[in-house]
Amino acid sequence: MKIFVPILFVFIGITSFISMNNQTSNQPASVVLKDTLMLDREKYLSFLKDSLKGKESLPADSVFKNIKSLKGKSTEQLLSIMNNWGHALGVTCKFCHEMNNWASEKSRNHLRTREMIVMNDRLNRDLLSQMKGFRQPVTMGCISCHNEMKEPPHDGPRPQGPRPRPEGGGQPNTPKN
Ligand code: HEC
Ligand code: HEC
Repeated sequence: MKIFVPILFVFIGITSFISMNNQTSNQPASVVLKDTLMLDREKYLSFLKDSLKGKESLPADSVFKNIKSLKGKSTEQLLSIMNNWGHALGVTCKFCHEMNNWASEKSRNHLRTREMIVMNDRLNRDLLSQMKGFRQPVTMGCISCHNEMKEPPHDGPRPQGPRPRPEGGGQPNTPKN
């Protein structure tokens, strides 16, 4: 009986080693997937960059139709922010845009993004920059929570079943101050 226990441990060790190896052999597939997302975003970005040649340093809101959250950014900056958001959430442009109309607000994720920007700005401005116990500046961006995921992991139990949709399609609730 006493000899049985170490044998069992060796067995568990070997089987978990085999399953670890299986996981690493799966990895190239997910790396390829990330690359195709990047390529897909790049396709739209280079198309836009070509059609906006010479306007790179103009204010984004003078070139595009529906700029509310990114006022003050240049056209070039806007496009690189678009790529950064896609990367941070692990998505392509399609996740937030109607592909035949960049200015459209129809996608719920387009509006959610504007709310996220308000939240993220307040987090940095009102909370993180006030923390005395840390070396400043302490800042967070989309990647800090999303880490290439659409939805960051929930703390505590996940809400069960579908959650009710917000009324008004989730219009940003912009603070007054
Ligand atoms: C996480 C959501 C999200 C992703 C991903 C995203 N966008 Fe956007 N995009 C937005 C939001 C929100 C705005 C509006 C910004 C504002 O209000 O200033 C916007 C604005 C734009 C505009 C300006 C449209 C106009 O006419 O006003 C263009 C062009 C654009 N995005 C292109 C892209 C491209 C190309 C990609 C992929 C590389 C992309 N976006 C990825 C959310 C996203
Ligand atoms: C402090 C953490 C945090 C930061 C920073 C943050 N997010 Fe989020 N985001 C969340 C959480 C949590 C959710 C999921 C909410 C839920 O449960 O539906 C979410 C959801 C979203 C969604 C909806 C995704 C879906 O599938 O429902 C979008 C779009 C989004 N975030 C965009 C952004 C962008 C763009 C930024 C940066 C400007 C950003 N977020 C910064 C925490 C964060």
